[in-house]
Amino acid sequence: MAYETLFTPTTLGSLNIPNRVIMAPLTRSRTPDSVPGKMQEAYYGQRAGAGLIISEATNISPTARGYVYTPGIWTDEQEAGWKGVVNAVHAKGGRIALQLWHVGRVSHEMVQPNGQQPVAPSALKGEGAQCFVEFEDGTAGQHPTSTPRALETDEIPGIVDDYRQAAIRAKRAGFDMVEVHAANACLLNQFLATGTNQRTDQYGGSLENRARFPLEVVDAVMEVYGAERVGIRYDAVYRAVWFDRRRSGSDGVLHGGAALQARPGLPAPERAELGGRRHHLPCGFPRADA
Ligand SMILES: Cc1cc2nc3c(=O)[nH]c(=O)nc-3n(C[C@H](O)[C@H](O)[C@H](O)COP(=O)(O)O)c2cc1C
Repeated sequence: MAYETLFTPTTLGSLNIPNRVIMAPLTRSRTPDSVPGKMQEAYYGQRAGAGLIISEATNISPTARGYVYTPGIWTDEQEAGWKGVVNAVHAKGGRIALQLWHVGRVSHEMVQPNGQQPVAPSALKGEGAQCFVEFEDGTAGQHPTSTPRALETDEIPGIVDDYRQAAIRAKRAGFDMVEVHAANACLLNQFLATGTNQRTDQYGGSLENRARFPLEVVDAVMEVYGAERVGIRYDAVYRAVWFDRRRSGSDGVLHGGAALQARPGLPAPERAELGGRRHHLPCGFPRADA
């Protein structure tokens, strides 16, 4: 049978999964108040037959948002909502990971608390980039992003801590794993890519420096979940829409991924690629060449 392997069990880190179907994270924009509820319980519960569900990207803080109606994981109410979702998946014998998200510059003052500027590695607007906002007449739609401000060096530990707190809440809600979102032009991807990261401090410049923040986040989240229950998603393709082609060497994102993969404790690429051009990288695997 052509798909025999697809339906055989395997492990992801320390998680046993009964088949190799991994449901990709899919933003749905169905939580107007950012709190998952009955609709999300039904939606994810219906998909519990997957080996692993990776949830829609979930904002780690109010400033992490760039898309209205997406869920969060920074309040008690959101945590309780997610607990209901996890219970619905577990009740049907499934497993679910929470994807942790900060959009960085792919946002607008309209979506940010107190109308503040979105944050980014550097104060560079994403040319052609769109976020999702609610207009004054109550309708919602895509809208060009605004110019971000560059994060101060001493602000970065606070965002690392936001990821840590989000992971703590995810664990309390019962998620089987968490995935750090570092693909699709979100904040951590912006740090990895040369087109968006023009910093001169220890978070910019060399490959090691550009990967520093994403890896600090991975470390913080692994402290909460253990290495074998944490993944990172990074983008191996170069995106002209989200990154400024004129400023970015084509090495920007690709080599960012290489820096993540080269790190001891992270898996070799052939064991890491769970899907497509955007790789999901489970952190707790031994390297194949170790
Ligand atoms: C509507 C929609 C929403 C998506 N939301 C997310 C998301 O929340 N997080 C994420 O990492 N990827 C997201 N993606 C990307 C998908 O997970 C997936 O990578 C893509 O649809 C399949 O392409 P690929 O096989 O080339 O990766 C989204 C894609 C679509 C079409």
